[in-house]
Amino acid sequence: MATVEQTQAPIFMIFSAVLALIFVLVKIGRSIPNRRMKLPPGTMGWPFLGETVSYLKPHLATSPGTFMEEHISRYGKVFKSHLFGHPTIVSVDPELNKFILQNEDRLFQCSYPSSIGGILGKWSMLVLVGDMHKDMRAIALNFMSNSKLKNSLLQDIETHALLTLNSWKENQAFSAQAEAKKYTFNLMAKQIMSCNPEDLETEYLMKEYFSFMKGVVSAPVNFPGTTYRKALKSRAAILQAVKNTMDERRKQPVMSWNPDLLSTVMEEGSLNTEQILDLVLNLLFAGHETSSIALALAIYFLAQSPESEKQLRWEHLDIRRTIEQRGTDSNLNWDDYKRMEFTQHVINETLRLGNVVRFVHRKALLNVQFKGYNIPAGWKVLPIFDAVHLDPDVYDNPLVFNPWRWQKIEGSTYFTPFGGGPRLCTGLELAKLEIAVFLHHLVLSYRWELAEPDLPLVFPFVEFEKGLPVRVQSIRQN
Ligand code: HEM
Repeated sequence: MATVEQTQAPIFMIFSAVLALIFVLVKIGRSIPNRRMKLPPGTMGWPFLGETVSYLKPHLATSPGTFMEEHISRYGKVFKSHLFGHPTIVSVDPELNKFILQNEDRLFQCSYPSSIGGILGKWSMLVLVGDMHKDMRAIALNFMSNSKLKNSLLQDIETHALLTLNSWKENQAFSAQAEAKKYTFNLMAKQIMSCNPEDLETEYLMKEYFSFMKGVVSAPVNFPGTTYRKALKSRAAILQAVKNTMDERRKQPVMSWNPDLLSTVMEEGSLNTEQILDLVLNLLFAGHETSSIALALAIYFLAQSPESEKQLRWEHLDIRRTIEQRGTDSNLNWDDYKRMEFTQHVINETLRLGNVVRFVHRKALLNVQFKGYNIPAGWKVLPIFDAVHLDPDVYDNPLVFNPWRWQKIEGSTYFTPFGGGPRLCTGLELAKLEIAVFLHHLVLSYRWELAEPDLPLVFPFVEFEKGLPVRVQSIRQN
C-alpha cells in the first residue's frame, strides 16, 4: 500500500514542473515582443555594430546630428535601431520621453553600458538601481539641499567665481572652456573634501581627473597604452588620494574634521569605504563635467548675441546697485540670486540649444505599448533630449539663441536638460547657481569676444573644438 508521502510525491513533482513551465513561459513572453503590436520602423544596421558608429559621429552641439535628422525624416519620432550593442527603441517623442522617465523601475530602468560601470565604479549612481540607488540619491540630495545652497554654497561659489575671473588677463587669448572646468572642479573638490584651489594636492587631483575623464568617453579597451587603461590608472590614483584623506581623518577626533561631504558620509557610517570612494568620484564627475560645459556654452552664445549680453548686464548692474545701497557687505545673497530672472532665461536657453546631456540610457522591463507600437521587454530605450529641444514643432526658430522665449514658456515638460522622474538630476539647482553667480561677475567685470572662431561639438560629450579661445576687456568701474 502506498504511503501518503508516496502518493503526494508525483503530485508535488507535477506541480513543480507546471510552475517551472509557467516561469519559463513568462520569461520568454517578456523577451519576445507582443506579436499583435508592431515594432516601430527602423533598421538594425550592420551585424554586431548596428548603427552605433553613425550615431556617435561627431556633430555640432546645436544640431541633433545627421543620423538623427535622417532617421526622424525617414521613420518618424519613434524608431528602432541597434545601438551600444543592443536592439534599441529610440524616442524623440516628448510624450514618450516623459513616460519613460516617469516610469523608472516600473516599466523602464536605468541601463548604462557596462563600460560606464568599469570606469565610474560599480557603486556609481548611473549604474545602481533599486534601494541602493535611492540611498545614494538621498545622500546626494542632502549634499545639495536648498538650505545648503543658501547658507554656505552661495558664498563659496562666489569666492571661486571671483578667484577665476580675477586671474584673467586683458587682451590675451585663453581657453574659456579650461577656465570653466577649473572653476567647477575646484568648487566641487572644495565641497566634497575641502580641497583648496591653491593646494598642490588639488592640482594633482585635477590632472588625474582630466586623464580619467578621457577614459569615460573612450572605447573600453584595456590594453597597455590605451586611453582607457590610462584612465583606469588615474581612477586608482584619485581613489587612493581620497582614501589617504579618509585615513588621515580617522586619526583625528571627528570634531576636527572639515565640514564637507566626505566627513558627512564617514560620520554617518552607512556606506563602506569602496562605496564612499565611488560616491566621491561620481559626484566630482557629475557635478563638474556638465556645469563647466554649460558655462562655456553660455559664454559662447552670449558672445554672439550682443542684445542678450546687454540685457544680462542691465540685470546685474541693477542687482549690484541694490547690494551697494544695502551697504553691509558686497556679497550676493539669496534675494539677489532670486532676482536674476533674465539670467535664468539665459541658462535655460543655453541648455536648450547646447544640450549638455543629449540622451539617457534606459531599458524596457516589460513589453510596453505606445501609440500602436511595441517596445519589447529587454530592449534598450533611448529618450533623446537634444532633438526635442531643437524640434520646430516644440520651439519656434529652435536654432536661434533667444533667451526671451522663456518669458512665455512656463514649466515646459518637454524641456528635460536635467532628465526627469525619480532620477532627475540632484545637482540642477547647484548647477544653475554656479552659472548665474559666474555670469553676474563676468558681465560686471568684462566684455569678451572669441579670439578665433570655434564650435561646440558632440564627441559624444559636448566640447569646444579649440577650447573656446576668448579675449576679455575689463569694464570694472574703479
Ligand atoms: C548643467 C549642468 C548639469 C546637467 C545638464 C545635468 C544633467 C543630468 C541628467 C540629464 C541626469 C539624469 C541622468 C539619467 O537619468 O540617467 C543627471 C543626473 C545626476 N546629476 Fe546632473 N547635471 C548637471 C549638473 C549636476 C551637478 C552640478 C551635480 C552635482 C554634483 C549633478 C549631480 C547629478 C547626480 C548625482 C545625478 C544622478 C541622479 C540619480 O541617478 O538619481 N549634476 N544630471
